[in-house]
Amino acid sequence: MTAAAALCYFPAMELAIPPLPQSSRVNASGHLEVAGCDLVSLAREYGTPFYAYDQQQIIDNCRAYVTAMSSRADDSEVIYASKAFTCLAMCQIVADEGLSLDVASGGELYIALKSWFPPERIYVHGNANSGGELSRYVRSEVGHVVIDSLDELEALDAAAAAEGRRQPVLLRITPGIEAHTHDFVQTGRLDSKFGLCLAEGVALDAVGRALAADNLELEGFHMHIGSQIFALEPYVRAIGLMADFAAECRRRHGFECRLLDVGGGLGVSYGGDDEPAGIDELAGVIVDAVREEMARADLAMPRIAVEPGRSIVANAGLTAYTIEAVKTVPGIRTFVAVDGGMSDNLRPMLYGARYEALLAERPLAEADQTVTVAGKHCESGDLLVRDQPLPDPAVGDLLVTPSTGAYGYSMASNYNGQPRPAVLFLRDGDARVVIRRESYEDLVRLHGRLD
Ligand code: LLP
Repeated sequence: MTAAAALCYFPAMELAIPPLPQSSRVNASGHLEVAGCDLVSLAREYGTPFYAYDQQQIIDNCRAYVTAMSSRADDSEVIYASKAFTCLAMCQIVADEGLSLDVASGGELYIALKSWFPPERIYVHGNANSGGELSRYVRSEVGHVVIDSLDELEALDAAAAAEGRRQPVLLRITPGIEAHTHDFVQTGRLDSKFGLCLAEGVALDAVGRALAADNLELEGFHMHIGSQIFALEPYVRAIGLMADFAAECRRRHGFECRLLDVGGGLGVSYGGDDEPAGIDELAGVIVDAVREEMARADLAMPRIAVEPGRSIVANAGLTAYTIEAVKTVPGIRTFVAVDGGMSDNLRPMLYGARYEALLAERPLAEADQTVTVAGKHCESGDLLVRDQPLPDPAVGDLLVTPSTGAYGYSMASNYNGQPRPAVLFLRDGDARVVIRRESYEDLVRLHGRLD
């Protein structure tokens, strides 16, 4: 590599900034570039705020999961959790890469089917699916419904009867495990609204009912212990409990678990000291644990499924904002206010999630002050980034927050009448609008008048 070319590489480590998309560079204009697209030019063309994804990185992450699982297990499946980020283009990538898809509502199913995603590769989740939704799942011939409660089991059996179809199902089991993550994204512990607990024979009873249901075909079990998980040991413990449960199901009901879906949850780096495990490491831990625990319980090896969301899209995405005001409260702090905020990234407010920021026009410039990046919403807590060193931020600058690719757009709102941003997929110097920016007209599209 020549010295000039080396200069164009983004020295992310040196600047101690969080993971930008893998193709990030500083180009000849000194601007931040992703997948060959200058972010400053994109802002001029598409306006701000916008989300941008490195399309190849999403594809690479999908492939990393498929390779990591299939190279270790004879029979495996990778299911993308579409709640992390979904749109027609995203579903197309997931389909092309051979992954399956997790949808958690009739709406997520609708998006998937509109993209022509193969229904037989869809897993449906949810703890409060309506009768209408259940009928729609059966009618759409989705591959699996993951049953979350006894009520749902009965309602799905009835919906399947009405549609004249035997519906393959998994039962979602709550293993009673604490994962080390934020309270709001713990899902595997006993006191959880999700799944059927192992305690007091609840899950075992559900297996008996599922086997007795005329219109359900029980194939196995699902668990999901939480999200943004760094320590992998809770997966091993949970898989051990699932193996014990599967053994008990065989003893009591003669049922052989053919499919074990161990959920998603792999953490990603948002910057700072974050050191998540990699995709390959996770796959190794999971496949080894299933193999060992099933052998210990004297059970046959099932098909193993994993269900990642965040680790496929988070680091591939970023958000770009325009700075609208810079305000110093003497002796306290400087606020840098941008043209988005909690309406496009709720995570700082909801979970105290930490992000970092940089300026796209001069990513390599030395920071001369420490600021707080504030959103534009009528809430004092609408702060996107805290204690961020930046080089002389000024009105009109393009401010970028990396790692916003998961649970950003999918949790966006129209608070304060803010239209949702555009979403761009970037590849080989081309930007494609995969979700267009909402217009003001869109804000009243669903409204009715009194007169
Ligand atoms: N499977 C099930 C059943 C899930 O509920 C979830 C996430 C996943 C898979 C994917 O988990 P992941 O690999 O993305 O961690 N809004 C929160 C995260 C909520 C996670 C909900 N379930 C956040 O922004 O951190």
